[in-house]
Amino acid sequence: MKGAAVFPGDKTLRVVADVPDRKLESPTGVKLRMLQVGICATDREIASCMFGTPPDGFNYLVLGHEGFAEVVEAGPEAGELQPGDLVVPTVRRPCEDPACMACVNDRPDFCVTGLYREHGIMGMHGFLREFVLGEARYMRKVPAAIRDVAVLVEPLTIAEKAFLQAERIQMRLPWNERGVLQGSQAVVLGAGPVGLLGAMALRLRGCAVTVYSRERKPDPRADITRAIGAKYVSAQDRTPEEMAAGIGNIDLIYEATGSSKLAFRMLNVLGRNGVLILTGVPGAHGPEAVDLGALITNMTLKNQCLLATVNAGNDAFDRAIADLGEFCTLWPDAVRGLITGRFTLEQFETPIRNAAGIKNIIEVAS
Ligand code: BGC
Repeated sequence: MKGAAVFPGDKTLRVVADVPDRKLESPTGVKLRMLQVGICATDREIASCMFGTPPDGFNYLVLGHEGFAEVVEAGPEAGELQPGDLVVPTVRRPCEDPACMACVNDRPDFCVTGLYREHGIMGMHGFLREFVLGEARYMRKVPAAIRDVAVLVEPLTIAEKAFLQAERIQMRLPWNERGVLQGSQAVVLGAGPVGLLGAMALRLRGCAVTVYSRERKPDPRADITRAIGAKYVSAQDRTPEEMAAGIGNIDLIYEATGSSKLAFRMLNVLGRNGVLILTGVPGAHGPEAVDLGALITNMTLKNQCLLATVNAGNDAFDRAIADLGEFCTLWPDAVRGLITGRFTLEQFETPIRNAAGIKNIIEVAS
């Protein structure tokens, strides 16, 4: 079968015509026909060989971890999944260490050993191929009503995991035993798909949201922000301090730019009892001068929390699927407006080499 892959040896991208296509043998397994796969910054970095590991025995790695598929075969013990069902596969698979409480408890997103594998990223082929075999328990069922946007589930899970965690963290406030974020002042950094989907999830939770991003209005990102009832501020027009001055106590900042400098600068504008959430993986860029004493003093005097989060568990996937349904009811054009480019499998290099628009997707099959 066909798949879109990176060859780290000679740093090329190619459509491979003969990716092995295995038969469904596991009674608890399913065979998926991939429908759509989203492209993100992680794919771009893997494609430029900054990281990414092919599976054992392969000199290439099939790309893609933002998948959306149709079940075409289900083993006799695959639970409720049946051919014709729509699913989003989760990305990470557990390590095999029986002492890893995270993986033993089906939460490889918190894996302790670091020996987990990830589809399209580490040690497992990704979803940018015609068919995928997997265990039914790693597939999250998607209602047909969100078929046209279900490829956005995986990038939304980043935000959902972050906010599920933030809700738990804010239970530390004695008057907020359930950790509700409703009524919070939230700032989202970056109006890419992870930022805008995060902004939508925060609006749904009843937060007042400001999206702070590079682009100047008029821009489709600003239009989407307005459509969901959030405020858009361009970093070209206002410094973080000027942006924050118009808000009051900022309770939550969701960082979705991957800019380490901006993330730490935002600690200066985070409010009392606030949480700063990091989701980016900026990599090493050499030393930066930071006044650590001032930083720690400020954080301590304001009871602040710094939360970093990667990958997502089944709870975040299910929440993302439910929330996407709500987004489609509340803001149908805004959600659909996030998908700005559609490509065939053969054209996969274009959105990987050139990050135009908001979210680019590959239509593997229709
Ligand atoms: C994916 C995560 C993954 C992470 C690190 C992100 O782009 O959304 O699922 O864990 O990259 O590999």
